[in-house]
Amino acid sequence: MVKKKTCIFISGKGSNLKNLIYRSRDNKFPIKICLVISNNMNAKGIEYAKKFKIPYLFINTKIQNYENKILFCLKKYQISFICLAGYMKIISHKLIKKYQKKIINIHPSLLPKFKGLNTFSRMLKNKETKAGCTVHYVNEKLDSGSTIIQKSFFINSNDNEFSLKKKTQDLEYKAFPEAIIKIFRNC
Ligand code: GAR
Repeated sequence: MVKKKTCIFISGKGSNLKNLIYRSRDNKFPIKICLVISNNMNAKGIEYAKKFKIPYLFINTKIQNYENKILFCLKKYQISFICLAGYMKIISHKLIKKYQKKIINIHPSLLPKFKGLNTFSRMLKNKETKAGCTVHYVNEKLDSGSTIIQKSFFINSNDNEFSLKKKTQDLEYKAFPEAIIKIFRNC
């Protein structure tokens, strides 16, 4: 199996990045992480790129035409697949067009419910009975591309934002690799 050369986009802690790095060290896992891009210079996740000697790039999204820099680097590293792992910026139309059905995102809710930010506080306020995560393709609309995998759990009366986040992230570490395997299972 030829592994897909993959770029992971992050903005913060990078625990999903770390999980994907570990999973991709398995010969049978379909992706090789060849590049990490962060829009945040202080993202803790960059440390994982350094530790595992993966090239990384900081992108200042305030600069005009920053997408060209991203596209240049994706080309340089021959990237054919992109995972958004806690990347808190909107992906440009240009990039989406270039990587149609090749960009996936993980979101901490059962989409289409709770698109956007502050998912856990909104869930609690809404007295939801279930929470979870969704891995989906990225399209032009925020958190709206078709779903690849969803995993859920029941919210109990003791749950708060902190416990919901912890339970959701534990599911994310299963869902993201499973979604990637599902996408490439016939390749
Ligand atoms: C993850 O829980 C992910 O679902 C969420 O950010 C977290 C990043 O954690 N993504 C979004 O909210 C995107 N809308 P990590 O940096 O530890 O992987």
